[in-house]
Amino acid sequence: MLTLGIESSCDDLSMALVDEGRVLANVTSSQAAAHAPHGGVVPEIASREHLEGLESTLDYVLEEAKVSLKDIEAIAVTFAPGLVGSLLVGLNFAKALAFALNRPLVGLHHIESHLYSAFIENSCAYPFMGFAVSGGHSHLYQVKSLGKVNILGHTVDDAAGEALDKVGKRLGLDYPGGPAIDRLSDQGDEQAFDFALPRVKAGPLYTSFSGMKTKAVEYIQAEESKGPLSLNFKADLAASFQSAVVRALEVLVGRALKKASVEQLALAGGVACNRLLRKTFKDLCEAKGVVLAVPSPRYCTDNGAMVAFLGEKYLKTGAVSPLHLNARARMVLGED
Ligand code: KG4
Ligand code: ZN
Repeated sequence: MLTLGIESSCDDLSMALVDEGRVLANVTSSQAAAHAPHGGVVPEIASREHLEGLESTLDYVLEEAKVSLKDIEAIAVTFAPGLVGSLLVGLNFAKALAFALNRPLVGLHHIESHLYSAFIENSCAYPFMGFAVSGGHSHLYQVKSLGKVNILGHTVDDAAGEALDKVGKRLGLDYPGGPAIDRLSDQGDEQAFDFALPRVKAGPLYTSFSGMKTKAVEYIQAEESKGPLSLNFKADLAASFQSAVVRALEVLVGRALKKASVEQLALAGGVACNRLLRKTFKDLCEAKGVVLAVPSPRYCTDNGAMVAFLGEKYLKTGAVSPLHLNARARMVLGED
């Protein structure tokens, strides 16, 4: 079923065409350059940029897949959670297309799409454990079957990506901080600075990054009092902070795998691009005898392919969303 996927929940506008689980085209227009001068995503700029990019992104994706508009058989779109203005741009475009072409529409939860992005290139075995690590989420789920998702645990404050972005910004690195810290860590010593593992009262499957983030800022302030930050200092701090964040994520999932009876772990979301995280989770899964499914980096960060991919799965079960579907800024997968 040739399915168009539209993703516009944050600062990336992405569209893709998927047919029978195969990605024919995936086009992402990043807005990093527009947000970089502000050091973070500006919601108003994000929705305007999405609006301006809709038609050209659709043209590119059709061209890349060598199909025409009327060949599209169904439309999948992210409707929650995210920046409401950004979500509305993509959702209204999807609704208009569905109405004009007389095709079914399905609205998807952004994090559920991320979880299934791990199966674009790997086979899926239910039940699986899904770990979404992005700019807004560090959430762990048990997925029994399509649509049957239970939340197991999550961060109680900042998401891992958010913490990396904030520390990157404080170090004066390129925006966004996550990939910049990943690159700079190659030159640093991950044992240069101590970061205690978070201790969270909520339970063993909960974590926190705010304490580590505060500690990083304290190290930076102490160094700044002596003069401008050297490249060595930045690299050592980046490597130590990255290592601590990855360790906290590893501990969380390690505990969950001890209790759960799953054979597969899906690691997804933008932070899953991180090389240390990928390596650490590969080793963890090998040690626990669990199959790791992790997408290529292009399917880790926000992309239309994961939306079209999961959308096609839902549409095949007969699921459709009404044309009055509304965007939701907040919606917890596995709870709402
Ligand atoms: O999934 P995503 O594209 O958007 C959200 O749904 O949030 O994730 C974006 C997050 C950002 O925090 C970004 O810094 C982080 O993913 N990220 C990385 C890397 N690439 C992207 N974090 C660490 N290392 C990377 N290589
Ligand atoms: Zn995302």
